[in-house]
Amino acid sequence: MHRRANSVSSRTGSRNVRPQPDFIHEFVAGKSNRTLLLLHGTGGNERDLIPLGRELDLDAALLGLRGKVLENGMPRFFRRLAEGVFDLEDLKKRTHELADFVTAAADRYKIDIHQIVAVGYSNGANIAASMLLLRPEILPAAVLFRVMVPLVPETKPNLSSVRVWIGAGAHDPIISASNTKELVEMLRSAGADVTIRFFQSGHELTSDDVDLAREWLTSVR
Ligand code: MLT
Repeated sequence: MHRRANSVSSRTGSRNVRPQPDFIHEFVAGKSNRTLLLLHGTGGNERDLIPLGRELDLDAALLGLRGKVLENGMPRFFRRLAEGVFDLEDLKKRTHELADFVTAAADRYKIDIHQIVAVGYSNGANIAASMLLLRPEILPAAVLFRVMVPLVPETKPNLSSVRVWIGAGAHDPIISASNTKELVEMLRSAGADVTIRFFQSGHELTSDDVDLAREWLTSVR
């Protein structure tokens, strides 16, 4: 079942309903309790990573989102000042919006919050990493393709029950290996169980990324 929607509002029992941030999104029901939260790269949309999500997990529900920031007409999840130079205030605000949206969507689509796995590529991986650092309660696991340090949090999060798989390009012209390794150290020092793999590629995703990420996802079930 595919469902497209513009907004999700949360039910808060007897309390007033708090307006929730909207994201254009697509929800595809699954056969298992797992949901992959799909976050595209610059210029993508809510449908971009649906085929990748299906390749990674045949049975999971899929929730694809469209970033709300436009850069020359291209959707992104937060503003940047230049390639790799982020507008940190916007990034923080958008990270909280995204985290609140995931909580509301879990309520609406009956998603098991203990079985959400973020799958992000590039800009989408960066905001997923930001969510791990600023809202560590939201994501129990993440698959991050071509990710970098999005920000340095003021307080160290507790990621002791979080598992992360990172796919990096050894020849990525946008993200240096040292930057990705810095993120790995940041996540590990917060307690996360992190697997990192380098591929003989640039910023583009390879079939090896997909194969190893799928294997990892099967092992963390
Ligand atoms: C970003 O802006 O998140 C990174 O530079 C990756 C990109 O989207 O090009």
